[in-house]
Amino acid sequence: MKITIAQAPQYIEQEVTIGAWLSNKRSSGKIAFLQLRDGTGFMQGVVVKSDVSEDVFSTSKNITQESSLYVTGKIVEDTRSDFGYEMQVSNVEVIHEANDYPITPKEHGTEFLMDHRHLWLRSKKQHAVMKIRNEIIRSTYEYFNKEGFVKVDPPILTGSSAEGTTELFHTKYFDEEAYLSQSGQLYMEAAAMALGKVFSFGPTFRAEKSKTRRHLIEFWMIEPEMAFVEHEESLQIQENYVSHIVQSVLTNCKLELSVLDRDLSKLEKIKAPFPRISYDEAIDMLKEKDFDDIEWGEDFGAPHETAIAESYDMPVFITNYPKDIKAFYMKPHPDRSDVVLCADLIAPEGYGEIIGGSQRIDDLELMEQRYEEHGLTGPAYQWYLELRKYGSVPHSGFGLGLERTVAWLSGVEHVRETIPFPRLLNRLYP
Ligand code: 4AD
Ligand code: MG
Repeated sequence: MKITIAQAPQYIEQEVTIGAWLSNKRSSGKIAFLQLRDGTGFMQGVVVKSDVSEDVFSTSKNITQESSLYVTGKIVEDTRSDFGYEMQVSNVEVIHEANDYPITPKEHGTEFLMDHRHLWLRSKKQHAVMKIRNEIIRSTYEYFNKEGFVKVDPPILTGSSAEGTTELFHTKYFDEEAYLSQSGQLYMEAAAMALGKVFSFGPTFRAEKSKTRRHLIEFWMIEPEMAFVEHEESLQIQENYVSHIVQSVLTNCKLELSVLDRDLSKLEKIKAPFPRISYDEAIDMLKEKDFDDIEWGEDFGAPHETAIAESYDMPVFITNYPKDIKAFYMKPHPDRSDVVLCADLIAPEGYGEIIGGSQRIDDLELMEQRYEEHGLTGPAYQWYLELRKYGSVPHSGFGLGLERTVAWLSGVEHVRETIPFPRLLNRLYP
């Protein structure tokens, strides 16, 4: 019977075969411990010299790291391991022998590991991070499907910018100039007018010259957009959504979180509602925390966000930023024309902004005025104006950065470990 490591608990005391790679090995004269991995999990195979043929024992002792194998044996409980099961091996068949695998169990530098990302992904830690990423994606679809959202896929090749022109990736579209999408938002607004509540999940591109632990050139974003939903209701949807993914990861990724040594007590607290402070209050708070030189009207950098987050053990919404440092489409505050109805959600523990969102301008004249102020001309933007011309409604939306969320829940320091093949300022390989 061929099974996977993940299925092992259902086959206790049964003889099964697993296709696996050897991730590590220890052996003595009488016994060999094979650390097996098959993608679904990690499990130890124990080969006892007196229980197997001479051939099988000598193969087991000599298998090289990352060789591929069919391993046959009996599944037994093993209370000492995190996984809880191991295999008493009766046969080992080498499929392919790997020689001189470059990533050995010793420590390697980050650049070396990044150059070998195609192999580094096989390691226990990277495996755990990818499984957590997958659980966030799975629970995202679960949440939005349950809440009646329709998944819509905006284009990646676009003729207009959504979040300002300085970070655009340019490309040729036959004879025209095109850009890689920075955000699907403008298209999602059109979709919300057709389908009510929608969400997208796709890659976005920012030619940002930032070399920080929070910035990728290519990252994945979840972008919900909701007709007839105003700012406050949007915040409630955001906090419920984030609570849902955190609780899903806690429930379904116990093993992965333990591999990563994640402090669970910090995640267990994450439940809606989240605290909210205004940009004005955030400025006051920063002045009290030794950022005396910050002026009203300035945008926050990573150190500011981290300082604010330190006061909370939950993600915190910073609302109502000055209009001049935010995108052209954000709706002005009804009582204050200098700030907009927006919020950034700042994750705890220094992971920074994970969501940017706002209520959108729904008034045609005001949007035309913003176009003028921002120099948005040409046919690429005309269709977006028409959404304000034909049955305009109050609407809001937000974008959650997947990689920053994975970094936070996994507790990994840098976003480069949260996406299979990161695109960074100086890295397009592998
Ligand atoms: O705040 P941003 O730029 O918002 C938008 O793009 C809106 N159009 C979203 C919307 O309202 N539909 O980006 C949203 C999120 C950020 O909060 C952050 O988590 C992530 O995307 N993000 C990045 N993640 C990794 N690397 C980068 N360079 C990122 N830039 C933004
Ligand atoms: Mg933002």
